[in-house]
Amino acid sequence: MKFPPKLTDKLTRRTEHNALRQLGTSNNLVDFASNDYLGFAQSKALFTEVHNYLLDQNLFQNGATGSRLLTGNHALYTSTENQIAAFHDSEAALLFNSGYDANIGFFSAVPQKGDFILYDELIHASIRDGVQLSNATAYKFKHNDDEDLERLILKTKTDSNTIIYVVTESVFSMDGDTPPLTEIANICQKYAAYLIVDEAHALGVFGNQGKGMIQMQALQQQVFARIITFGKGLGCHGAVILGSTILKSYLVNFARSLIYTTGLPPHSVATIQIAYRHLAQNNEARQQLRQNINTFNQQKQLMGLKPLFVRSKSAIQCAVIPGNEKVKNIANQLQQKGFNVKAILSPTVPEGQERLRICLHSFNSEAEIVAVLNALSHLLF
Ligand SMILES: Cc1ncc(COP(=O)(O)O)c(C=O)c1O
Repeated sequence: MKFPPKLTDKLTRRTEHNALRQLGTSNNLVDFASNDYLGFAQSKALFTEVHNYLLDQNLFQNGATGSRLLTGNHALYTSTENQIAAFHDSEAALLFNSGYDANIGFFSAVPQKGDFILYDELIHASIRDGVQLSNATAYKFKHNDDEDLERLILKTKTDSNTIIYVVTESVFSMDGDTPPLTEIANICQKYAAYLIVDEAHALGVFGNQGKGMIQMQALQQQVFARIITFGKGLGCHGAVILGSTILKSYLVNFARSLIYTTGLPPHSVATIQIAYRHLAQNNEARQQLRQNINTFNQQKQLMGLKPLFVRSKSAIQCAVIPGNEKVKNIANQLQQKGFNVKAILSPTVPEGQERLRICLHSFNSEAEIVAVLNALSHLLF
């Protein structure tokens, strides 16, 4: 059967723009690319503990067997949600199959026709997709710009009944930077807007016991909902929405990405539960990551690379190198030198904003950090 010509044309255009995506395979290069910030995804101790727990509990179950609303809601779900809610100082927690599912579930269900969603212009694709599914009106505000947000709130809030949802990330996935969260939370409070913060890249990286940026800044009471994902710092899979008990009940009733899908298998939920325990206890990995972030920032300054990088104190460090071809070429050369560094191409980021995305981990050595920056410096200057 002939592949539809319109689709072939789209692929051809991608190739012409040097932007064709292809699935790679894993490699043995030094990891400066994965989201496994604390090395939990590779942790034998964590794997063994989960395995033994499942054996002890006689949990020989491969799949959830149905939606959580039908047969899929294993008892582990409840205990894990309670544990996570307590850890994050939230009234309630609701597990989703992924961060993508959590975001499309939330934004397609919560903001209603006549409501407004104000989102940071660099917000993650999963939030954008959720917003697209919503009947609310959406406007973007300038990246990390609380003044622009306030201006937009004043423009949209025509009377006291206007419902406004504001959404941002505590660590931006393609920049690694952080918005002025206290200012944003205060603005939301001032105008009675509902603040939602995606903490995907903050869990395990910021805050006491890696609880995230919102708790680090003691803003949990000012936030309507937090989205936390487990595929990054926690090294496993799934996500949770933190909020009030009534929000949880609302999502159980209306979030279609929770209702119309098979739940996570119990062993995934057990992994989340035990990974959280490791997170609370494994101070060493969190400190090592912090130290590596500091080393990276010092070294990039020493080597004169700082102006190239987006300002970041997170595990995500991005050097903006405009042009798909150029940035791809540099990433390829770094890979040939043994460093797994990925190029982020347009259209994932806006044209002219193409970048190298270097992810730091607790397990990267100082020598590796110095070497990758040295190699980058030689390729650029
Ligand atoms: C900010 C942000 N939110 C949500 C997601 C989606 O999370 P998941 O990978 O669990 O679907 C990601 C991951 O790419 C992300 O970076």
